[in-house]
Amino acid sequence: MPGTVVVGVQWGDEGKGKVIDFLAERADVVVRFQGGPNAGHTVQVGSDVFKFRLLPSGMLRAETLNVIGNGVVVDPTVLEKEIAGIRARGFPATNLRISERAHVIMPYHRTLDGLEERMKGGLAAGTTLRGIGPCYEDKAGRFGIRIIDLIDEVVLREKLEAIVPIKQRVIEAFGGTERLSVDALFDEYREHGARMREYVVDTSSLLDAELASGREVLFEGAQGTHLCIDHGIYPYGTSSDCVAGFAAVGAGVGPARIDRVVGVTKAYTTRVGAGPFPSELPGEIGERIRQRGQEFGTVTSRPRRTGWLDLVMLRYSKRVNGLTGLAVTKLDTLGGLPKVNVCEAYEARGEKVEEFPASMRLLAACQPVYREFDGWPDLGPGEWRRIAEHGYDALPVEARDYLAHVAEAVGVPVQIVGIGKGREDTLEA
Ligand code: IMP
Repeated sequence: MPGTVVVGVQWGDEGKGKVIDFLAERADVVVRFQGGPNAGHTVQVGSDVFKFRLLPSGMLRAETLNVIGNGVVVDPTVLEKEIAGIRARGFPATNLRISERAHVIMPYHRTLDGLEERMKGGLAAGTTLRGIGPCYEDKAGRFGIRIIDLIDEVVLREKLEAIVPIKQRVIEAFGGTERLSVDALFDEYREHGARMREYVVDTSSLLDAELASGREVLFEGAQGTHLCIDHGIYPYGTSSDCVAGFAAVGAGVGPARIDRVVGVTKAYTTRVGAGPFPSELPGEIGERIRQRGQEFGTVTSRPRRTGWLDLVMLRYSKRVNGLTGLAVTKLDTLGGLPKVNVCEAYEARGEKVEEFPASMRLLAACQPVYREFDGWPDLGPGEWRRIAEHGYDALPVEARDYLAHVAEAVGVPVQIVGIGKGREDTLEA
């Protein structure tokens, strides 16, 4: 498997960090290829919990190279804090590389994120307010500042002098009061450049050499297919391409290098932010899943909306990503429910809807068509751990029936199952 992409197949928060960390044992390199500090990837080793926003999820394995690719938007303040955080916990971070071509989130991007959200009214996505959208807007508009610019004082000053007056006018036009200073930004970001310099390389060349020498590369997706700018619930998703095909673009490698695509899904569905959610459970069961699954945003702490597993979403994700396998996480969270549902299709305006609609108006009208399964017992962490030690066949029969149906309905095998928080609580089917 020279190139494996791991992507979320729902609305983010599927447990990709844990799956990446698990697969990273057999990989030589882990690469983030899109998104930025809107991500919150949790990796738990023993009782130690790490929450990564920009660092790739292989950072805790010293022998694994970790790359932040050109498709990522980097907030240096967040990244430096993360690096300092893992160093303080005994991980030297010498295994990190950052692309020269990645774009930089500037303070005015964060300001504009809030102002744009306010202006958008009903079109607001409920963003993480981390400046992600405005940074990608600048990348496409050719107003962007890249990592390489932070280590070239001439270019940095030239760009700031051209860009800052424009941003100042936009902030004011959007009703903001913040005053930007070219000199202050120059000093601050030049210093960020000096601090990050040791990690900055041409990551495309690096990855090319790694792949050419047969090393195994894991491409770590952030957010999820249904938040993707092209394939997600536009305009309520994020501003980057979150699907597997973008791994090649955002890492700077050819698509033929990728031969495996693992889609990560929870055993149920969650969503942070606005937009239609056909299988949402606003009542007691939804609240039980929220509490048991600790469904609160890693980045924003917002309570996540919860619902049954939606197979319409997953079938769509299989197609647009070309999935070769599924990883199903948090199966333990559903334990103790007498019955568990999956959404097989939708009904809207008197008709059956089997394809995930592009129209948000149609999606909002969609009612779920459920298929009911017997639930599995409410086991304690010790019992789930014992199952993890014994392997897939030790899972309760009801849980295996549920997973078998998911695999059949989506049309890809379930290869990995998560039944607890730790690295050890993972099964291979
Ligand atoms: P943005 O990415 O901060 O612009 O937010 C756009 C939408 O994507 C919002 O609805 C966010 O809640 C959602 N979003 C962004 N990143 C994540 C993530 O990592 N997990 C879950 N939702 C996310």
